[in-house]
Parts: sequence; structure tokens; C-alpha cells
Amino acid sequence: MAKMAKKVLITGANKGIGKQIARQMGKNGWIVLVGARNEERGLAAAGELLAEDIAAEYVNIDLRDPKTIAAAARGIESRHADLSMLINNAAIPGDMRKPGYEFTADELRGVMETNFFGPFELTRLLLPTLEKNNGRVVNISIPIGVSSRFNPFAYKTTKAALNVMTQSLAQNFTERDKAVEIFSIMPGATTTDLNGNITGKSVKTAEAAGKLIAGFILDGKNHNGELINENGAVADYNHGLF
Ligand SMILES: NC(=O)c1ccc[n+]([C@@H]2O[C@H](COP(=O)([O-])OP(=O)(O)OC[C@H]3O[C@@H](n4cnc5c(N)ncnc54)[C@H](OP(=O)(O)O)[C@@H]3O)[C@@H](O)[C@H]2O)c1
Repeated sequence: MAKMAKKVLITGANKGIGKQIARQMGKNGWIVLVGARNEERGLAAAGELLAEDIAAEYVNIDLRDPKTIAAAARGIESRHADLSMLINNAAIPGDMRKPGYEFTADELRGVMETNFFGPFELTRLLLPTLEKNNGRVVNISIPIGVSSRFNPFAYKTTKAALNVMTQSLAQNFTERDKAVEIFSIMPGATTTDLNGNITGKSVKTAEAAGKLIAGFILDGKNHNGELINENGAVADYNHGLF
């Protein structure tokens, strides 16, 4: 009997690293649900993948709008009950230059909604489906330890919450024998819109980041609770590569 293709939902899959993860997963035989907040951009990305013979479908998800998250989860439950992977990729950096004390609580809240509350809610709602399918949650993240070279307050604060979610839920899953894994991958500096398309010797292309991430996802290992650095080393809570 032919092996059934597996399904992955990737948020923010319309551009940047998310689109490249989608492409890599598709090339490896996965059916890709392209999460995007903008219909035109989401359909365009799904269309690009389809043109490359990758099975892809657009799913509307705005991480700052809980109604779209709930609707996406309901749609997946009814039409894609075989979903076995959620990749929480979409994120915003907030202002990366100004000092933390100049943020208002409202500004921080906006970044937190996108980078933590949205991914948390999506994960929570999809967990029963993922568990039924021995599934996995993959969070795309960053190291949040102190560094004089990289100190964006909102970005780090919100990704710290995401990293806690990875490690705390992983512990829960192990303790309660849940058939689901959660781990983070930190791809390192990558040229994308998120950072004004920075370039440099140690900055990789989005395509390279997509390949790196897909490589860890598809390596056949159990990564529950890990925060995987770009070099494959498992970071402790704070200490990653910057
Ligand atoms: N670039 C790096 O150096 C780097 C390094 C380490 C980790 N990462 C992580 O990699 C991931 C992808 O980032 P990227 O560099 O590829 O950034 P990007 O090119 O700016 O892409 C971000 C994606 O997130 C989506 N998004 C933003 N707000 C959203 C919302 N409210 N609801 C749904 N989707 C939303 C964007 O959609 P729109 O097109 O609609 O804006 C876009 O698809 C992030 O988690 C980031 O923290 C990036």
C-alpha cells in the first residue's frame, strides 16, 4: 500500500524562512498547509508551491486575531484530521533598536500576541489532533541570553516566553505520556524582511535556513524539549549562539 503523505501547518509560510521551510517539507513529500494572515499573499505562496508540484493549501491565520486561530483549528479538525506537525514560524521583532525602557506596555503586548499568545493558542487548539497522529510542534526561535551585540527587548522577551513554552510543555508531555513532541529550532541570523534583509559573512539565506530547519525536523530523532542551535548543539535555556 502506498505510504500516506504527512501534513504540516506552517505559520507565516508566505515569505522568508517560513516559505523556505514549506518548500523543503514539500520536497520531502509533505503536504503543506500555508498559514498566512493575508489571503492574497497566502494564496500566492501556496500557488508557488503548487507550481513546483508540492501539495499546498492556504489557511488564514492572523496570530493577533484569536477568531482566525479558532477558525483555522476547526477547519483542520474537520478537513485535515491527519495533521501531524505544527511549525510556529511567524513572528515579528518589534523595534530592535530602542532600549527596553522606551517600550510602552501596549507595544510589548502587540509583539507578545504575535510571538507567544498566538502560537500558544494555536498549539493548544491543535494538540488533540497532533496527539492522535503522534505529532510534533516545532517553534522557530532565538537564543534569549544577554549579549551586547544582540539586545532587542521585545523580540527577546517574547521569544523567551516561547522557549519556556517549549521546555515546559515538553516536560508535561513526558510526565503525562502524551504522544506528542515539542521542540525549538534557532536558525541563526538570516537575510529576511524581519531584520531589514541584513547580509554578512555569518548571515545565511532564507533558503539555507529552510534547509537547516527541515534537516533537524527530518533527522529521525526525538527532540522533545530541545532548543536546537544552528550548529545542531542543544542550548540550555539562555545560552545560544548569537
Ligand atoms: N531572520 C532571522 O535572522 C531569524 C533568526 C532566528 C530566528 N528567526 C525566526 O524565524 C521566523 C521567521 O522569520 P523571518 O526571518 O522569515 O521573518 P519574515 O520574513 O519577516 O517573515 C515573518 C512571517 O511572519 C508573518 N507574520 C507576522 N505577523 C503575523 C501575524 N500577526 N499573523 C500571522 N503571520 C504573521 C509574516 O506575514 P506577513 O507577510 O503578512 O507580514 C511573515 O510570513 C521567526 O520566528 C523569527 O523569529 C529569524
